[in-house]
Amino acid sequence: MSDVSLRGAADIRCKGLRHEDVTVLVNNAGAVSFGSLLTGPLDDAHAMFRTNVFGPWEMTRVFAPALAASGGAMVSVLSAIAWFSPPQNGAYAATKAAAWSLTNGLRMGLESAGVLVQGLHFGAVDTDFAAGYDGTKIAPGQVVNASLEGLEAEAPEVLVDAESRNTKAALSGAPGEYLRRFLGSAGS
Ligand SMILES: NC(=O)c1ccc[n+]([C@@H]2O[C@H](COP(=O)([O-])OP(=O)(O)OC[C@H]3O[C@@H](n4cnc5c(N)ncnc54)[C@H](OP(=O)(O)O)[C@@H]3O)[C@@H](O)[C@H]2O)c1
Repeated sequence: MSDVSLRGAADIRCKGLRHEDVTVLVNNAGAVSFGSLLTGPLDDAHAMFRTNVFGPWEMTRVFAPALAASGGAMVSVLSAIAWFSPPQNGAYAATKAAAWSLTNGLRMGLESAGVLVQGLHFGAVDTDFAAGYDGTKIAPGQVVNASLEGLEAEAPEVLVDAESRNTKAALSGAPGEYLRRFLGSAGS
């Protein structure tokens, strides 16, 4: 099994990859930029939606026939932030919420073709992406291992850490954690 990194459909041709070689598609690419939902730059938000939502959507459409032929899997790299919206990071949170919905929608079509779709959620991870975050971060290897174990177990959803497990569980609290977590925070 080889591991090939692709940025888009054009890369597939450049790297001489045949669609039928692909058995697992990991939609991992992600971009983040910060700013107020009410006054921040909308261009940044558009760029994030292109990378975090339309990118994985396009890649999944391109590879769906190959994944169906191989009985393979698509991993959707999401986040605990799909379930709440922090101040100054609401646009990124909205992309992950949209990507979560997209993952669930794509699952409907792909599952009947024998393709496992895994939604992968976690809090902060120690990568460049979270360089400016001072809170607790898990190791990237923990995410990879949890995803691989999830593929072995054919799990449609993997909650890697306490942050993702607690955040999802709090959705059904009263009032929902997503309503009050940052209530009163200015400039969100
Ligand atoms: N780190 C965290 O705390 C954290 C928490 C929750 C979820 N996540 C999610 O985990 C995933 C991986 O993030 P990471 O932590 O590994 O961050 P990272 O080290 O910054 O990696 C981001 C990856 O996305 C690629 N990328 C960014 N914009 C792209 C674009 N427009 N087209 C194609 N590829 C693009 C980058 O490729 P290049 O380097 O070639 O630009 C890089 O491989 C993301 O989906 C992120 O949202 C991260």
